[in-house]
Amino acid sequence: MTADPAPSVEGSAGATGSLRRMSRWPAAVEIGEVGPRDGLQNEDPVPVADRVRLIDALSATGLRRIEAVSFVSPAAIPPMAGAAEVMAGITRRPGVEYRALVPNVKGAEHAVAAAVDEIEVVVSASDTHNRKNVRRSTDESVAGAAELTALAHGAGIPVEGIVSTAFGCPYEGDVPEGRVADVAARLRDGGADRLSFGDTTGMATPGRVHALLDALEAQGIDPTTVGLHFHNTRGTGLANVVTALGRGVTRFDASVGGLGGCPYAPGATGNIVTEDLVHMLEDMGIATGVDLDALIDCAHLAQDLVGRELPGQVMRSGPRTRTVDA
Ligand code: COA
Ligand code: ZN
Repeated sequence: MTADPAPSVEGSAGATGSLRRMSRWPAAVEIGEVGPRDGLQNEDPVPVADRVRLIDALSATGLRRIEAVSFVSPAAIPPMAGAAEVMAGITRRPGVEYRALVPNVKGAEHAVAAAVDEIEVVVSASDTHNRKNVRRSTDESVAGAAELTALAHGAGIPVEGIVSTAFGCPYEGDVPEGRVADVAARLRDGGADRLSFGDTTGMATPGRVHALLDALEAQGIDPTTVGLHFHNTRGTGLANVVTALGRGVTRFDASVGGLGGCPYAPGATGNIVTEDLVHMLEDMGIATGVDLDALIDCAHLAQDLVGRELPGQVMRSGPRTRTVDA
């Protein structure tokens, strides 16, 4: 089947600009690229040199925040082995922040040694998921987060607290929004500089986005300051983003090509797709600072590196501005 020719975009910039004002969408958003970590941790291991290549290509697209690695047990997550080598191998582009996820103090020590720009500490709001993920209770992880935050701050490195299973847990089902907000408030009180919320297995829907942001407000956490991390497992990823934009959220994670998902769970997909997100936002008149064509090239590179077709849609269809002959 051939695609329908895309309509001309002439004149649409003004239309989307006024739509943006009517809908109270922010003028610009910051996209956190997570493909090299959240994406690749779920793929067959990719060699260090190729991970470096992907990160360097991504840093040339205008993306300013890249989750490059995680410092975790290589026995727990084999594809993330070699994190220090990846950090040593990349070319640091000025203005780009290279971030690392850590589960504990030991991970933070390695991240400090690698001179990352930001440490992300992840705590699951669901106790069952937290135990499966990092073999401790949520309360133990919250306490550990405060300890490693002090360590990071001592090295001059900011910390983002990430609450995962923030929209539901694959083991416990619904996770009360109040509990998510409570974990977030405790991470903030433990010194976290920023907060974000992970939809670990793609259970969020627009109604749940509103419910969580309401619960955060009730805890004194301003929704316009938080980051959101959606997975597209059930096809709701971009709908969730648009919902959050209407509440003034300006930070979103995404993975190039839609890297990630579990190869052993049929139908599971990864994070929302970075180039699909950029494509949508720019057409809504919301600036991302990202060169879409360069990003699509990165999606093809990512696809080559993992050796399977990725779910990104704009990388296949082309942006709507790329018209075809009638
Ligand atoms: N990085 C590297 N190695 C680590 C580590 C880290 N951050 N933390 C612990 N280890 C090592 C220990 O040194 C020990 O090594 P040894 O057997 O050679 O002595 C081994 O891992 C076990 O240590 P322990 O403290 O008993 O950890 P554990 O087995 O209870 O596992 C975690 C706990 C947190 C280390 C592990 O579950 C993990 O890395 N989880 C990360 C999961 C993840 O990344 N999920 C996706 C992102 S949300
Ligand atoms: Zn994720």
